[in-house]
Amino acid sequence: MKRIAVLTSGGDAPGMNAAIRAVARAGLARGAEVFGVERGFAGLIEGAFRPLGARDVGGIIGRGGTVLGSARCRDFHTEEGRATALASLDRRGIEGVVVIGGNGSQTGAYQLSKLGLAVVGVASTIDNDLFGSEVTIGVDTALNIALEAIDRLRTTASSHHRAFLVEVMGRDCGYLALMTGIAGGAEATLIPETPTTPEDLAIHLREAHQRGKMHALVVVAEGCERDAGQLERWFHERREELGFEIRATILGHVQRGGAPTAFDRLLATRFGVAAAERLIAGESGTLVGLRSGSITSTPLAEVVASKKTLDPELLRLAKVLER
Ligand code: F6P
Repeated sequence: MKRIAVLTSGGDAPGMNAAIRAVARAGLARGAEVFGVERGFAGLIEGAFRPLGARDVGGIIGRGGTVLGSARCRDFHTEEGRATALASLDRRGIEGVVVIGGNGSQTGAYQLSKLGLAVVGVASTIDNDLFGSEVTIGVDTALNIALEAIDRLRTTASSHHRAFLVEVMGRDCGYLALMTGIAGGAEATLIPETPTTPEDLAIHLREAHQRGKMHALVVVAEGCERDAGQLERWFHERREELGFEIRATILGHVQRGGAPTAFDRLLATRFGVAAAERLIAGESGTLVGLRSGSITSTPLAEVVASKKTLDPELLRLAKVLER
């Protein structure tokens, strides 16, 4: 394979740049020409390609976001959009593409592979909700950002004897919230997979207050039926049921910003090198991910048809520690 391209798609994730750098350098090392596609599938449709030499990806391993840009592209959901993308690649003589992104992006990658293009995906999303990889690029950084916020909120919560509801991202998956709750020592963690009613949370917090807790931190996954703001209003109206005064903090996109952690840089580098080498060696229609410490390839057909579930042992652990 003489020419390959790399794109980043969907929500950006810290570590995407390290993956782009790794794809480019591994591709060049195998004698291929490498192109970067701007703004994900949108750039594929528009033919927005730029050559990536070794120097073009210098100094980006520690930078957050993605130097190629990213987008959620509606046109790519149409047959016409995908045909235009294939024609753009054909005009440039590009024979294979590495797609760095999460669920939506890998669905797009799968559709391209079904049209006959050589495609290898790289698992990247702060939500860690992608089947085929135990951990995805960006989740470690997002987790560390959420933890720093929790640690800061704890000191002010303690000074004012308050309970804080801290909302973390994750779309409809509770992984990021669960890990934040466990590592941050939260009094409770609310996730969509195991719904908790406000009444049950009130009982839990009141009991904590009666046991002498001077503050409480509750992690709320954004995918829960009631978000942190709604819960805050619910509790304000029933102040006496709780024991604590309550405040809500929504972390939002802060979790996706800034420099990737060492873990994410290394994971992204391993994924990027494997994706480029496997693509050039003739692999296609797969997702590069991590399983039991090893870099693996999972068919994209299986990835898009399967749902990643939370480890029940982590759920149990969180409950044991919430005391
Ligand atoms: O998928 C990553 C993610 O950050 C989710 O956690 C969140 O729900 C969503 O993207 C936000 O999307 P946007 O950046 O388009 O607002």
